[in-house]
Amino acid sequence: MSNARARTWRTQFTPWRSAGNRTETGATADEVVRSTGWVFNNETGKQLTLADFVETGDKEVRRYMRQFGFTPEQLAPLTLLEIGSGIGRMTASFTQQCAQVIATDVDAAFLERCHETVGQHGRPERLRTTHVTDGRTLQVGDRSVDVVFSYITLQHCERTDALSLTREAVRVARDGATIMLNYRSWVPADVALIPLGVLVRALWRLPIVGGRLSQQRWATRFGWQANRLSPDDVLGYLYKQPGVEQRLGEITVHHSAKRARSAKQAGVTVQPLNRVNASHWWLVIHLKG
Ligand SMILES: C[S@@+](CC[C@H](N)C(=O)[O-])C[C@H]1O[C@@H](n2cnc3c(N)ncnc32)[C@H](O)[C@@H]1O
Repeated sequence: MSNARARTWRTQFTPWRSAGNRTETGATADEVVRSTGWVFNNETGKQLTLADFVETGDKEVRRYMRQFGFTPEQLAPLTLLEIGSGIGRMTASFTQQCAQVIATDVDAAFLERCHETVGQHGRPERLRTTHVTDGRTLQVGDRSVDVVFSYITLQHCERTDALSLTREAVRVARDGATIMLNYRSWVPADVALIPLGVLVRALWRLPIVGGRLSQQRWATRFGWQANRLSPDDVLGYLYKQPGVEQRLGEITVHHSAKRARSAKQAGVTVQPLNRVNASHWWLVIHLKG
């Protein structure tokens, strides 16, 4: 397996490359989950298996699809593109539920493992993977997918990359498609978390020490939150992109009931959703048919 280096390197890619390299050691899929699974679902343990790991993804896929209004019958004929698939924790479930799945990630080694995960727990004949070589552009044609989904990924991208991927989600989606993207916004603890994140990302650049640190869960958790984006940041950006506004249909911002949220743009529905992390929010866009 080869872990092709992203063409435009950013410090922000460090934790993914570090974990990606650890998936290339010839370890079994269960061993990969024990050594790197925490970068995807935050779970650790010497007894973890790929089956446990995929089960967490399956539960979340079913929950979000239900919450965002998709029945299994509606999903069945659709092509879904996932931004930030990792090693396929949720992708396996998507291949069980959709006709075609395009998994994309900034780390090529994760995509190799994603094929393995789907081979064991999904429908490999329905999977295609695409490396996001520059961290911001999808190598997928215009208007070619029915659903775009991204979970706990855009918060880990540099701000301009997260916004670019948002624009890309609209570009690759067909008329009438649904886009479901998860972001992170500000919480009071950011007063401490943001400077700690800056410090950890600076340390990642150091020779030897940086490499070791990027394998540590405690440090990674400080360094990997790369941006804070509000609904106004994302929608304000999207509305300015040429040719985008006229494609946008119904737009909903889903957020935790613990946090009040608003959106300046007229016609955007803002509503609480059960079991959403207080710092997270979802942008769900139905493109005009
Ligand atoms: C926390 S993991 C979540 C993976 C998966 N969504 C899940 O829930 O298991 C974040 C993923 O985003 C990927 N990622 C980070 N920056 C990215 C970028 N700029 N473009 C595409 N993928 C990216 C990482 O490689 C990693 O696989």
